[in-house]
Amino acid sequence: MTNYFSKDFWWGASSSAFQVEGAWDEDGKGKTVADYNAFQKSDVQADTRVASDFYHNYKEDILLMKELGLKAYRFSISWARIIPDGDGEVNQKGIDFYNNVIDFLLENDIIPFVTLYHFDLPFALVENYNGWESRDCAFAFEKFAKTCFEAFGDRVKHWQVHNEQNLMIRVNIRMNMYDVPSEQAEKVRAQMDYHMFLAHALATNACREMLPGVQIGPAVSSTMTYPSSNRPEDVWAARMNDNFKTNYALEMYCFGEYPGYYKEYLKKCDIYPETKPEDEEILKASKPDYIAVNYYRTLVASYLPVDEAHPFGTKKNDIDFDLYGYFKIEKNPNLEVTDYGIQVDPTGLRLLLNDYYEKYRLPMIITENGLGTGDQLTEDGKIHDDYRIEYLKDHIAACNDAISDGVELFGYCPWSVMDLLSSRQGFMKRYGLVYIDREDFDLKELKRIKKDSFYWYQDVIKNNGLN
Ligand code: BG6
Repeated sequence: MTNYFSKDFWWGASSSAFQVEGAWDEDGKGKTVADYNAFQKSDVQADTRVASDFYHNYKEDILLMKELGLKAYRFSISWARIIPDGDGEVNQKGIDFYNNVIDFLLENDIIPFVTLYHFDLPFALVENYNGWESRDCAFAFEKFAKTCFEAFGDRVKHWQVHNEQNLMIRVNIRMNMYDVPSEQAEKVRAQMDYHMFLAHALATNACREMLPGVQIGPAVSSTMTYPSSNRPEDVWAARMNDNFKTNYALEMYCFGEYPGYYKEYLKKCDIYPETKPEDEEILKASKPDYIAVNYYRTLVASYLPVDEAHPFGTKKNDIDFDLYGYFKIEKNPNLEVTDYGIQVDPTGLRLLLNDYYEKYRLPMIITENGLGTGDQLTEDGKIHDDYRIEYLKDHIAACNDAISDGVELFGYCPWSVMDLLSSRQGFMKRYGLVYIDREDFDLKELKRIKKDSFYWYQDVIKNNGLN
């Protein structure tokens, strides 16, 4: 196989603040939506208070990243560590922590690749503003972004604004939408989504003004949908599934407006968000420099007719959600499925990268891709995760293929650099290259153990790709 990875390709790895840091209430940090859910509402009571304890172990962890050979580390800043109530005073101790992390990464020749918002809205914003439902939240985010650009922009040259807005908006616990009556839910969701787009644009524009020459863009949850048959309406349904789950967001980020099919849907359902005339200029000015792609699976869709009982309503299923009048999600019998129901499809990644490149002509980086499963610590004190090696190998090969097709892909960051709190299954489901020796309810010593995949990825990096 010819190796198409350029010499300066970013072999990286990823994490996010609430999933690794722990120290949930230390040094002035405010409570976040992620803390609140885990403590009070989630049925998986994994101990988010400590997570992987990166807050206290960042030096040891960064030295492991150096040993691995990472060129870049993609991580997020906790908004509530920097501004505890989301919109007020800055917490100097929060700034100090990220300064230390960034400086130590740079000392070890690792590029800090920073996400501003990864699922962890400061809880005070929910209490004071009703979260993203309020326009004020977008301006609070702009303020937080500016604080980060000011504090870290001399050293951080690559930023991501929101992680997976397009997925987050569908997850009620992330949006704190527990108590919204179901008949209002889609209207509230559409308004929140719009404010998040506005926040994204405000932060991007501020970045351009304050830090000329740096790179900024969104990270999207990405999937590729196959039609369940060659019936034209199923082909349309598959297209609409991608459009409603990812492309509408990419269009908003890249062109500053919703695409026609999405506007039509919002109007048809009478859920068009409130906007202001001045937003148009803000949204249109904020084209990203690149697209960060989070990729785990593909889907299959068939046409789902409108149902009189819930016209254009959504319906949850085992895999994802259906939308009446548009699409219904089905299982793909041609693909292997992980323990957690994810349909593994490296070719889908090649297709998707080609698709995005044709549409948006922007450089791309994979910021998440990985296999979540329950690893076993064996008696020899090791983790023999050949299944993860297979998974990563096939997806890296798909990246190589996509580059050979002409796609501008500048990096690959597996999820995740170390075991971390899975967004729904705590530490039962692990993604890391480094094992964190703890269980959901037993912290043990939080020892770091390099998995077989660590050594394998180290070799990939040394060889600049696959042999
Ligand atoms: C992505 C998120 O959607 O998927 C991560 O950005 C998350 O935060 C990852 O951990 C894997 O999902 P899960 O639910 O297995 O943790």
